Amino acid sequence: MHLRLSMGFLALCLSLALCAAGTRGGDAASFEPAVVQVDSTTRSYNKMASRNISIVGDNFMLDGQPLRIVSGSLHYFRLPAAYWRDRLRKLKAAGLNAVATYVEWSYHEPEERQYMFEGDRDVAAFVRAAAEEGLHVLLRPGPYICAERDLGGFPYWLLGKYPNIQLRTTDNDFIKETEIWLAKLFEQLTPLLYGNGGPIILVQVENEYGSYGSDMPYKEKSRDILKQHVGDNALLYTTDGLYPSMFLAGQVPGALTTIDFGSTTDVTQAFKALRQYMPVGPLMNSEYYPGWLTHWGESFQQVGTDAVVSTLRDMLRQHINVNFYMFFGGSNFEFYAGANYGSTYTPDITSYDYDAPLSEAGDPTPKYYAIRNAMKKFNFEAKDIPEPTPSSKGAYGSVTVSPRIGLLSSEGRSTLGKKYQDVTGSTLPNFEKLRQRGGLMLYETKLNKGEGVLEIKKPRDWIYVYVDGELKGAINRMYKKLNLTIQSKTDSVLSLLVENQGRINYGHHLHDRKGILSPVTYDGKALDGTWSVSGYPLEALDHYDTVLQSSPDLANGPVLFEGEFTLPKGQNPLDTFLDTTGWGRGYVWINGHNLGRYWPGLGPQVTLYVPGVWLRAAPAANRLQILELEAAPAKYVMEFIDYPILNRTTSGR
Ligand SMILES: *[C@@H]1O[C@H](CO)[C@@H](O)[C@H](O)[C@H]1NC(C)=O
Ligand SMILES: *[C@@H]1O[C@H](CO)[C@@H](O)[C@H](O)[C@H]1NC(C)=O
Ligand SMILES: *[C@@H]1O[C@H](CO)[C@@H](O)[C@H](O)[C@H]1NC(C)=O
Repeated sequence: MHLRLSMGFLALCLSLALCAAGTRGGDAASFEPAVVQVDSTTRSYNKMASRNISIVGDNFMLDGQPLRIVSGSLHYFRLPAAYWRDRLRKLKAAGLNAVATYVEWSYHEPEERQYMFEGDRDVAAFVRAAAEEGLHVLLRPGPYICAERDLGGFPYWLLGKYPNIQLRTTDNDFIKETEIWLAKLFEQLTPLLYGNGGPIILVQVENEYGSYGSDMPYKEKSRDILKQHVGDNALLYTTDGLYPSMFLAGQVPGALTTIDFGSTTDVTQAFKALRQYMPVGPLMNSEYYPGWLTHWGESFQQVGTDAVVSTLRDMLRQHINVNFYMFFGGSNFEFYAGANYGSTYTPDITSYDYDAPLSEAGDPTPKYYAIRNAMKKFNFEAKDIPEPTPSSKGAYGSVTVSPRIGLLSSEGRSTLGKKYQDVTGSTLPNFEKLRQRGGLMLYETKLNKGEGVLEIKKPRDWIYVYVDGELKGAINRMYKKLNLTIQSKTDSVLSLLVENQGRINYGHHLHDRKGILSPVTYDGKALDGTWSVSGYPLEALDHYDTVLQSSPDLANGPVLFEGEFTLPKGQNPLDTFLDTTGWGRGYVWINGHNLGRYWPGLGPQVTLYVPGVWLRAAPAANRLQILELEAAPAKYVMEFIDYPILNRTTSGR
């Protein structure tokens, strides 16, 4: 993703400041108008002669036969591996012949040189599964992917290791790290390129770079790094917005130029513009939006089925290759949800349902069936595959939890917290410098007696302010609330608990470090004494037996709640949805799996999707852990229901 080219482009432009590329016509004009240098004649195929993806005229050619791609996006990192097959089969059953996935660098190298390619992170197994299900693969290895993921898929530690790194440029540090990462990735994926016998036919260079910059040396470098791994075993392509200013800024010789747009765009007009620069070569809408992303505090974004199907038909009639973005969206589990910055900082919701043809739980929707019917008329492959139906869901009812630990209590500090260091001065170390990816950071110092305005110009992102352990309010980035009047005694302790709400994934605020990025001032004077810094990474939670004696007072800091539940006997665990109504804001873990952020008062997402494979069948007990940052309801209960609530818009903003 990501350009709102379908619905209200201008409106989104204004709100997300996406217009930059569109108004930078000057850059584009400096390019030669010959966008596409697809030169099938000079490609040398020396590996497996029978495995040959190439471009001839306006067609992709696979082993000498024209191939029309109708693909669906499905990100393996947004669902448990146990469900990959099911979703891939449903893609196939809709008549699609390919699956597109980004590869998320931070998912595989969450910490520097600690690579993870097992289980849910086994991207090669995902690609093999696609092949076994009869699907081609469009690989989008970025390394920048946007995708509404933390830091656009880059690992956060890049920002800590290199305080001056310039992501998405020819900056030496950035290029060096990119080369190391892609070499590791292609150890996994090289055997799966088409020319080597695998299903990967296309590999994307960068990602909508034309919406960010237009630096040809950088694009060439990105292309060359990939080319070195891909060779002639798959074709390279770029994806950019449909306006010439965007696709010219994003194109690079040696890669096919493709464009992206949604259902309200006129197909003929869109490709007419591309054809002016690319007289020959396959046409492709490489991100066709059947739905859209949602931020906290918005209404649930939806795209109408009729328009999606009719624009799809237009593209199929005109022999255009298509990739739905998303066909199945999934979820932003753990701390992987990103954020956008328009008029202000706005985090992405946990669900990535996307109003896609397959819902967050993988169920076919009316949009799915309509697309499948349209595809049948165009003679695609899946005519005879039975129509999928929604799976059963568990309405497992209420679970009562008990308050276990106050985060700011001494027990909370010693069990969940981690003391980093004391620093002196007004410059505080950020999450990245301390090498903490997500969770919370606690900065504490002494105050003198007085009353005044506490001000933090650069909160990243939500800062709870406590004086002597008592909540005074919050300073936050989202609503641009940067000051708070407080009172203190001699030697009062000021505690600033900072929540990282997700690094920006798009645009020019990308280098989004977390913590407190400006001096903390009190009555106009920087607090530059000694600060104690501790973190709550919340990566793995233990089980805590003690129950807080008194009822938890969230005015004294966040509280971890815990409870257990058992599923009905004689039944395999089903997918279910956890209804967070009545709770404030926080995170939920089930059997150690972080389901992501909840924030029902703001909405529109109210339930968290729970994959059944993360639950234990009876008689085993399941553990529910809730870290509540703000306000627990009178009864400490959350309920498992059998349907999602993603559209409860409130007056929150
Ligand atoms: C690959 O396909 C192209 C176009 O169909 C053809 O010109 C070329 O000879 C093929 N190469 C091999 C090795 O089969
Ligand atoms: C506090 O912030 C508000 C805007 O949120 C601003 O109008 C006001 O001037 C600030 N107060 C001080 C003392 O800086
Ligand atoms: C929310 O979604 C449900 C299920 O699709 C639907 O029945 C309901 O009308 C929607 N509510 C709003 C406010 O859009």
